[in-house]
Amino acid sequence: MNSKAMENNKILLVDDEEGIRKVLKITLESSGYDVCLASDGETGLKIFIEKNPCIVITDIKMPGIDGIEVLKRIKNLNPETEVIMITGHGDMNLVVKSLQHEAADFITKPIDIGDLESAIKKAQERISITQNINSYMDDLESLVKEKDKKINESEKLVTIGQTIAGMSHAIKNIAGGLKGSSFVLEQGIELENREYLKQGWEMMKGNINKITKLSLDLLNYAKTTKLDFKLENPNKPAREVMQLMNHRAKEENIIFKLLPCMEKRLVFMDCEAIHNCILNFVVNAFDSFNKIANPNQTKTVKIIVERENNNIVYKIQDNGCGINDTIKKSILKDFITTKGMNGTGFGLMTTKKIIEEHDGEISFKTEEGKGSLFVVKIPLRSKV
Ligand SMILES: Nc1ncnc2c1ncn2[C@@H]1O[C@H](COP(=O)(O)OP(=O)(O)OP(=O)(O)O)[C@@H](O)[C@H]1O
Ligand SMILES: [Mg+2]
Repeated sequence: MNSKAMENNKILLVDDEEGIRKVLKITLESSGYDVCLASDGETGLKIFIEKNPCIVITDIKMPGIDGIEVLKRIKNLNPETEVIMITGHGDMNLVVKSLQHEAADFITKPIDIGDLESAIKKAQERISITQNINSYMDDLESLVKEKDKKINESEKLVTIGQTIAGMSHAIKNIAGGLKGSSFVLEQGIELENREYLKQGWEMMKGNINKITKLSLDLLNYAKTTKLDFKLENPNKPAREVMQLMNHRAKEENIIFKLLPCMEKRLVFMDCEAIHNCILNFVVNAFDSFNKIANPNQTKTVKIIVERENNNIVYKIQDNGCGINDTIKKSILKDFITTKGMNGTGFGLMTTKKIIEEHDGEISFKTEEGKGSLFVVKIPLRSKV
């Protein structure tokens, strides 16, 4: 008997014959078992609930609740209990019935102590196997949980790594710019050249602006405060961006249009956050004309707001320079900019984060030299 099996030595014996109860108690206790007795099925079930023994030995034929009923109810209360049936000669029908109800074993009267002890031992082995399997499954479950946690942590580290890599790139650019401007300023001082001093100072101011923008972008990106979801008119953030950018559009000869959503249904969103997303798309669209081959080309930027199935959709379309294949691969994955001093590459990454927090998605189509279309879908929902 192994140590686990030794723990499973509590036995309940249910038999209406006092003689059998007395003899079996003495014999089994002298073999090291902890035996409790019941003289009928009813009492047996009460003791079972109280003491929760792993093994029950019950006579099949008893007045009142019979052995088969005791077996059924015990299996109902705790399916892992091993129930050994005591049968008389010729009780074949009852034996079959008890086996159908998952009795562990049966022994016939007159009881042979050797047979009974080997039936008990087999039952104990089965119990300890079940216990081992259960504890193995528990270990396995906690192992899987632990592994899951490690995978999540390493995914988080990869994201942090990418963020830091993107940041270092932006900071390196600014550091390079500052070095350049201080060189020009030094030359201006050394040579007493006012033009150099002016140029150096302009460069310095550009870098100061850039580092200010970078720190704001960083703050926005790292912001963990919860978004402020409210029921809003989906045209509102688009209209605000129109107002904000109209002046630049006129200055740069850009035809800037808003096609609002006609449907009046309100949408759960953080209006300010969505405003920032649309603004970044529009600024990118305006910037895309800085690199067009033909300066006389008609420049058009459209914001389209529409409802599509269960989503509110924002489309920002331009006929600017488009995006080449190399940049296309990194866009929305890395902090990437092609704007040198004038960009940080945080714009689309912050936008993506905000849209994901709205359970939405971003996609884009672009063709070099022809223009780009960015599409944001936000699911309509009645509450968050
Ligand atoms: N509509 C567009 N047309 C052409 N290129 C685009 C467009 N939108 C994005 N891009 C490309 O994607 C890059 C990343 O855009 P993103 O908005 O993330 O950063 P950014 O505009 O460079 O800097 P900022 O952090 O100031 O927004 C841009 O530098 C540009 O090369
Ligand atoms: Mg941008």
